[in-house]
Amino acid sequence: MATKIAVFASGRGSNFQAIQEAIERGELDAKVELVVTDKPSSYVVTRADNFGIPVHAFTAKSYESKEAYEAEIVSLLRDKQVEWIVLAGYMRLVGKTLLSAFSNRIVNIHPSLLPSFPGKDAIGQAMDHGVKVTGVTVHLVDEGMDTGPILSQAAIEVVDGNREETENRIHAMEHVLYTKTLKQLFEK
Ligand code: GRF
Repeated sequence: MATKIAVFASGRGSNFQAIQEAIERGELDAKVELVVTDKPSSYVVTRADNFGIPVHAFTAKSYESKEAYEAEIVSLLRDKQVEWIVLAGYMRLVGKTLLSAFSNRIVNIHPSLLPSFPGKDAIGQAMDHGVKVTGVTVHLVDEGMDTGPILSQAAIEVVDGNREETENRIHAMEHVLYTKTLKQLFEK
């Protein structure tokens, strides 16, 4: 049976796209039941529409609290019997409400070799630091910022002084590593 997942994203959605394409090629036995975004105008919404996948777009500031918008999301995910939450460029810290409803069932991808360079602009942090090798990490989500147990990592070489090319390498690696790691996770 295909694993039912929800993908959370705040931006471009290229990881969402890679996951959905892997599903359609039959490489990943999963079904994206819902795309959740806190940025109603983000490009991931267009991508989800193109695939005919339902979207829940919300604006955090129109809720009283994080608990309130997360409780609504939990109820939507339960209605759809979602088993795993896949964060793909979701720019908010996941709160207690979601974490306790999906304990050890939330996974994230981060564009660095954690624990180096957590948080925002990991690629910029790595380049500013002058590292020669960086990479991608897939990990389970806990209450911290990019701190949960590591599931997989892959390294890439930094292209000196060329952020664009370094980013391209990282994103290409993300698209492969995320699908592969999800496959291993869902087959357990
Ligand atoms: C990726 O670099 C991911 O590692 C990070 O946010 C970015 C999302 O990219 N968490 P996209 O929206 O999937 O294109």
